[in-house]
Amino acid sequence: MDTVERSADLRTRVAAWRRAGERVAFVPTMGNLHAGHYSLLALARTHAARVVASVFVNPTQFGPREDFAAYPRTLAQDRVGLAAHHCDLLFAPEIEEMYPFGAAHSVRVDVPGLGDILDGAARPGHFSGVATVVTKLFNLVQPDVAVFGQKDFQQVLVVRRLVEDLRLPIEIVVAPTQREANGLAMSSRNQYLSAEERERASVIYRTLQAMRHDLLAGKARVAIEAAAQSALEQAGLTPDYCVLRSARDLSMPAEDERNGLVALVAARLGRARLIDNLVLDP
Ligand code: PAJ
Repeated sequence: MDTVERSADLRTRVAAWRRAGERVAFVPTMGNLHAGHYSLLALARTHAARVVASVFVNPTQFGPREDFAAYPRTLAQDRVGLAAHHCDLLFAPEIEEMYPFGAAHSVRVDVPGLGDILDGAARPGHFSGVATVVTKLFNLVQPDVAVFGQKDFQQVLVVRRLVEDLRLPIEIVVAPTQREANGLAMSSRNQYLSAEERERASVIYRTLQAMRHDLLAGKARVAIEAAAQSALEQAGLTPDYCVLRSARDLSMPAEDERNGLVALVAARLGRARLIDNLVLDP
């Protein structure tokens, strides 16, 4: 596996594959890779002859008081892992390569509405930063397929929306959430947790499962959300939200709606902000 840092080199490499008639899949990441990321690579490989990954800690999706500086950067280790998972090419640009006019003066891609609720409300500007960097990366790689994790449910909807609205000819494939043995969704930010906190954080997945159970049992949406909120609080977490929403667009469902819902949780524990979700099949 080769690593390129320049857009021009990336384009040259991908163009050669395209001329040879090979399909190209793309897996964007911020690095510090774990089994969740590698599952995306495995899925990408089933969709295309060539797999490109990117590692770029994107400054525009972090708020001013967030963990951009502290975000774990482990490029040497990531490179070994990507090669072992049959990645063909790694794009690992410097900030100046992605933001030639500086991050503050970048052309931005906004996804109004969808990008402003839930995580977008808790982290103003976050999804504009995600949409901006994903659009730039899509434009550079020009993949046939791009793979994203369901763990970041709202991110998937934001990316689908920008692809549809900007008319990009890219298929978006979603990979299931990979979890630790105790149910905790794998995340680079789990490193901010102590061993004891990691154990305690398993309450998030149990709470999502309880929300599914309560929905099937016919409990009212407001009561389900209240019970979930208090389960998280009792375990010492501070929820940002724990809600039932439409899985299609995250809109508020009618009180008696039972189909097409997703349960979503974001909660703070120690230094970490953790998110998870469960799509609720009726
Ligand atoms: P990052 O957090 O590194 O995640 C990269 C991809 O891995 C995302 O699609 C995310 O949903 C997926 N992923 C993370 N944890 C996962 C898990 N436990 N199971 C399955 N998939 C998982 O998401 C980003 O980076 C950035 O916002 C990015 C899209 C790269 C734009 O900067």
